[in-house]
Amino acid sequence: MKYLTETYTLNNGQKIPKIGLGTWQVENGDEAYNSVLKALKLGYKHIDSAQGYQNEESVGKAIKDSGIPREEIFVTSKLESHIKDREGAIAAIEASLKHLGYIDLFLIHAPWPWSNMGQDCSEGNVEVYKVMEEYLDKGLFKSIGVSNFNPSDIQNILDHCDVVPQVNQIGYFIGIDQSITIDFCKEHNILIEAYSPLGIGYLLANKDIQDVAKKYGKSTAQICIRYVLQKGTVPLPKTTKEYRMIENADLDFEIKAQDMAFLDTIEGDPRRWD
Ligand code: A2P
Repeated sequence: MKYLTETYTLNNGQKIPKIGLGTWQVENGDEAYNSVLKALKLGYKHIDSAQGYQNEESVGKAIKDSGIPREEIFVTSKLESHIKDREGAIAAIEASLKHLGYIDLFLIHAPWPWSNMGQDCSEGNVEVYKVMEEYLDKGLFKSIGVSNFNPSDIQNILDHCDVVPQVNQIGYFIGIDQSITIDFCKEHNILIEAYSPLGIGYLLANKDIQDVAKKYGKSTAQICIRYVLQKGTVPLPKTTKEYRMIENADLDFEIKAQDMAFLDTIEGDPRRWD
């Protein structure tokens, strides 16, 4: 499971493990605590959390209790999507730091509040990003970036802030076309992280991907995760189950170019929100 420890180098020189454990919808308390502890014992080095997931407390506790030196673990958190002002950002960041000590990667969770997607928060995004730059200067964040940002959202940060985001974390999986954002980020040396590489699980029912999986003697989940890894992004598959954590990190095989090209032809976002 070499991808748990292999790293990419961010545009500021920091290393980031190539696969992380997603924790969206993993409840604070036993569920988040046990999931993160299991993952760390299995060799995961990279845990993706967020203020909005409300599980930083258990993530932080699991990290402490794991006995693994903090500096060997890479933890991400994100500023709640509705916080777009300096004071609110500072209060929320201080609360995160209480749980996590310091944070390896801190992101603006979205360019707009989830409750009002598409709202123009250009000024607010600059205001909170500047706060994040201060925490970077203090050494309490090691890297900073954004999530769910499109090129114009990122350009706004590039135009008004000092630090080029290290990362843009986006929903990326077979079938969803993110090429415009990915190309823009490549041009600016911003690493893409892929959340929901399994399309929150719905992609696993896709017959075409199942056929590719059979051909390689791998699971459908492994093909989905390997696909985004081979695209040079950081997969963040979410699971609370130990056997799936093992499966999702067991990616030491290569999808041939012609099969990647075939997977590229699959279209459609299978996610359902019911
Ligand atoms: P669970 O947590 O019960 O394992 P995504 O990472 O795309 O958001 O997908 C997460 C969903 O996929 C969760 O419902 C998770 O369920 C499920 N899942 C994660 N890994 C696997 C796997 N290897 N096989 C089948 N389902 C998986």
